[in-house]
Amino acid sequence: MKIETDKPLTYPFALAPLPFAYDALEPYIDAATMRIHHDKHHQAYITSLNAAIKPHPELHDFSIEELLLERHSELPITIRQTVHDQGGGHLHHQLFWKILKPGTAGTRPTGALAQAIDRDFGSFDAFKAKFVETGAKHFASGWVFLVVNPADGGLEVLSRPDHDSALLEKNTALLINDLWEHAYYLKYQSGRVNYLKAFCSVVNWEYVGQRLESVLDSRVRPGPATKKISHSVR
Ligand SMILES: [Fe+2]
Repeated sequence: MKIETDKPLTYPFALAPLPFAYDALEPYIDAATMRIHHDKHHQAYITSLNAAIKPHPELHDFSIEELLLERHSELPITIRQTVHDQGGGHLHHQLFWKILKPGTAGTRPTGALAQAIDRDFGSFDAFKAKFVETGAKHFASGWVFLVVNPADGGLEVLSRPDHDSALLEKNTALLINDLWEHAYYLKYQSGRVNYLKAFCSVVNWEYVGQRLESVLDSRVRPGPATKKISHSVR
């Protein structure tokens, strides 16, 4: 998955500031949840990921996407699960903050994204119902995804447990939502479905549409060569 064109970020991984104030998503997502979620939970994933990578300088030039997706099976066995868990937490949250945007209630997808949603779900309302239903039915912690299926380019909604990533299956995520209780419990308690409905009012549909445009571009262009880990794997 390569969406952003900026230089890939590598070890030591760092927490980017939220692109808006903690209370900017009120009343849909409360300020206390945003502060704890971003400053404590996301930071904890990064801290644990960096601690695992630190003793392995041969890994310090790899992006989180490379460590988690492209080179994961080559990582030292002693840190492979930690990179999966903590790196997955970092990768997913990094995308999650970019998808959220204040002031988007009542907006909807446009252009190619709107057309693809209508084609594969019937309507925007039907898509939202599917996204909310999938998230609500998911057992325990995890993430719900809107992805582009690599086989046929169609859009699909699916969920995965913990920090398992639909991206590991070569899907490209356009939209994700956090199903861990730390994302909603302070405000919504056991009402996960209300949180999922509220999330639809804070989505940056313009950014989600840009992600689909990048996928459509990459499907007609070969990707860059990938780096190799420079010594034998322990
Ligand atoms: Fe989270």
